[in-house]
Amino acid sequence: MTYYDKITEAANFINDFYGKDIDYAVVLGSGITLELENQKELSYSDIPNFPGNKSTSNVKGHANKLTFGQISGKTVMVLNGRLHYYEGHSMKDVAFMTYVVKFMNIKGLFITNACGAINTNYKEGDIVCLDDFISLVTDNPLIGVNDERLGERFVDMTTPFNPTLVESLSSSAKELNITLHHGTYGFFMGPYFETRAEIKAFKTMGCDLVGMSTVPEVIAANHAGLPVAVLSCVTNMATGIQEKNHDHEHVLKTAQQISINLKKLLNTTLKNLN
Ligand code: HPA
Repeated sequence: MTYYDKITEAANFINDFYGKDIDYAVVLGSGITLELENQKELSYSDIPNFPGNKSTSNVKGHANKLTFGQISGKTVMVLNGRLHYYEGHSMKDVAFMTYVVKFMNIKGLFITNACGAINTNYKEGDIVCLDDFISLVTDNPLIGVNDERLGERFVDMTTPFNPTLVESLSSSAKELNITLHHGTYGFFMGPYFETRAEIKAFKTMGCDLVGMSTVPEVIAANHAGLPVAVLSCVTNMATGIQEKNHDHEHVLKTAQQISINLKKLLNTTLKNLN
């Protein structure tokens, strides 16, 4: 079975399972939760061809299921948990669900993640809407033979984040009086937290943030022509910018606190969008 066939089979299965048109999809990162009205659930392990099904993301803070329901009158599918490259999954496996979202005929994708801040204008607890990224990983989901049914061979990345979605997030943040920064995300392979020297180097390169996810999905979304926007939650300052050591429990706890504003922001944005 080709990658394309696996994607379309999974997309058709999920559409048949839910039975209603879905407006938007949201990927939730570590420790972030979102409640829906009339919630329905589908475990990742029940989706045909879902990659890594036997060993799906074991990272603490990930629930590994789809939830469906309404937010602000829009029908939304939430992906609770994602696969990470650092878990040993291939880039194509990490990007699989992004293509599924595209082939379900969903209008746009919001991705959230937990990250460390390099830019000292940001502080722990802040939300940053990405306006660009730097991949610090020498692999991506487009490597290999290109299937034109997914997208074209050479993908334009002038505007990786959809201006309509970004504009809607910005105006909703204003309406809610929530500070929303805009910045560049550095994708680091992990799973160790970066060294001080690495963070210094990434700062010089122009990274405002650093994290271990999201970019494979953003590349796949651009390949497939799926509008995408990203909200990064600053769970800590990056190595050497904060003096204390990192720990994942702290990342989860801070992400949980940021969830409150993140939910408000997504609720209002979904209300304001078509
Ligand atoms: N670095 C990389 N990924 C992260 C961090 C960090 O400091 N915090 C949360 N995810």
